Amino acid sequence: MARPAAADGGAARNGGTAPHRLVVVGSGIAGLYAALLAADAHGGAAAEVVLLSKGQLEHSNTFYAQGGVSAVLESGEAAPGDSVEAHIADTLAAGAGLNNREAVRILCTEAAQDIAGLRRYGVTFDADPQGDTALGLEAAHSAPRILHAGGDATGARVARGLIAAVLERAVSGRLRLETGAFVTELTTAGGRVAGVEYLQNGELKSLDAAGVLLATGGAGRIFARTSNPAVATADGLALAWRAGAAVGDLEFFQFHPTTMAMRETAGGPPPLLVSEAVRGEGAVLLDADGHRFMPDYHPDAELAPRDVVSRSIALHLARTGAPADSPVFLDARGIEAARGSGFLARRFPTINAATRAAGYDWTAEPLPVSPAAHYWMGGVSTDLAGRTSIPGLYAAGEVACTGAQGANRLASNSLLEGLVFGRRAVEAFLSPEPAHDSTAPRASSAAGGLPFTHASVALSRDFTGKETSPAAAEGVVTSLPDPGPFSRDALGRLMTAHAGVLRSGEGLREAEAALSAWAAVVRPEIVAEARDPREYEDRNLLLAARLLVDAARNRTVSVGAHYRADTDHASAPTHSMQRISS
Ligand code: FAD
Ligand code: SIN
Repeated sequence: MARPAAADGGAARNGGTAPHRLVVVGSGIAGLYAALLAADAHGGAAAEVVLLSKGQLEHSNTFYAQGGVSAVLESGEAAPGDSVEAHIADTLAAGAGLNNREAVRILCTEAAQDIAGLRRYGVTFDADPQGDTALGLEAAHSAPRILHAGGDATGARVARGLIAAVLERAVSGRLRLETGAFVTELTTAGGRVAGVEYLQNGELKSLDAAGVLLATGGAGRIFARTSNPAVATADGLALAWRAGAAVGDLEFFQFHPTTMAMRETAGGPPPLLVSEAVRGEGAVLLDADGHRFMPDYHPDAELAPRDVVSRSIALHLARTGAPADSPVFLDARGIEAARGSGFLARRFPTINAATRAAGYDWTAEPLPVSPAAHYWMGGVSTDLAGRTSIPGLYAAGEVACTGAQGANRLASNSLLEGLVFGRRAVEAFLSPEPAHDSTAPRASSAAGGLPFTHASVALSRDFTGKETSPAAAEGVVTSLPDPGPFSRDALGRLMTAHAGVLRSGEGLREAEAALSAWAAVVRPEIVAEARDPREYEDRNLLLAARLLVDAARNRTVSVGAHYRADTDHASAPTHSMQRISS
């Protein structure tokens, strides 16, 4: 295909006149914050910053975040007895110990610095009646340390604050902003990333750059039920993979236990998330008989780590003979009784309004809830400065895999990761880049500890983007059911059934076969001429699903969010509890 029109007039390729340009892809917390820091560095003289986002700036997972940002603040702002060490310990415990410990240490120790950074950009957090920073409790945190804004509207408040700052810099010329700009490809030259190609208003364009920061978020849309909005289509992971970057920990996809049980359609709005902070305030989970079942599965009951709660729901439904997609019930009535009438509406205004709009009065009745795909711990492997295995390519936020989240993310550690590692990526870009040799910082995968690679990803690739998997090559696919034609609905159903909360070798093999069959049709070389971003998204979703399933097939033992019901069947809840508390 002919190279697209250069949106910069080709200036960056003109030898000595090349600007030190950073292209930031994505307008969630990681991309917005990083773009601002880069634009503001040395009064804006350090780099030319271009922020590209495929929709409007507000279209992101970030915008939907409810619970808040975890951080142990300094100078009397932390809860009594809380400490950075405790935050580190909680993060490691929730991550089943498969975290990169240095990444966790950085995440937790540098949190206060980036909360201060957010505040400098105009973001304010809720205060308690005494005027101190209000701190919420969420599952698997040993102390209240969740900063929130607008009650349960943290993501929207943070995003709006950062967007206002970005728009101000765009107006004053310190940052260039392109919305509706769907990045379709990373360009490389001499082993480095050289820029991006993107689709805008049906036209393919290109931008050269000294550095590209992927901040493209997650991939919930590969599953049928997800808390993620429509933009979460794994684009960054697919872009990086096709460019040859290492990826890691892809078998670890977190399911949030409590999203409202409503019917969704592929591409439609996500079901309402009922924040973990509601359980932090005391809500409990009941089955259809009104039995509070979580204490049967974990000593911390509803405040166990998220993977445990989602898995316990699935196991409990199976044990009681209920269909796998049946809801359980979140009972928040005790909170209102204990804290006084009107508390739920004040503390959780978004959830309160949305549940009432759906016809529920949660002060008087339990809400039907089900787990939904929420957050990908895996992603593009990076070192502790956001560098990927390709020089000039950085990744931060949910698209990246620093190893900080291990096999299961601790609540409210994602917004934080976007801040801390988004900043670190900018710092790395602005400082002289070390050669990618044996002395350079390396990504350490949670499972294998291998630099910039991951033992659990076995798909092989040539760098034109065609992948073949070992299982397909072995010919194991022939006896499995015909998956029918590819569609997002079909992909979501397949992934939810076979690569969701409970997995088995047989189910994963079936998923692999179906995905391979679809991949033979939804091919990159067909999509390459397309002018419709949805076709690129389809391709990216399919690739991400294949990578996830491949990684899951290679991990036969349950850990964190990856649960093999066939190998751990007999001792399921106890077994996973022991791992989590070890
Ligand atoms: P995102 O916020 O998802 O932003 C990605 C951006 O990249 C978007 O602007 C998107 O349009 C753009 N993009 C993607 N592909 C392309 C492309 N091809 N070309 C151009 N642009 C592209 N985490 C917490 O820590 N605390 C919480 O309370 C919390 N609550 C949550 C509630 C919900 C309902 C959801 C869905 C998630 C929640 N999370 C929470 C998780 C957290 O919100 C996300 O992990 C985090 O916001 C990810 O930020 P990000 O900047 O990496 O990506
Ligand atoms: C929630 O509010 O339950 C989501 C928090 C998170 O994803 O960290």
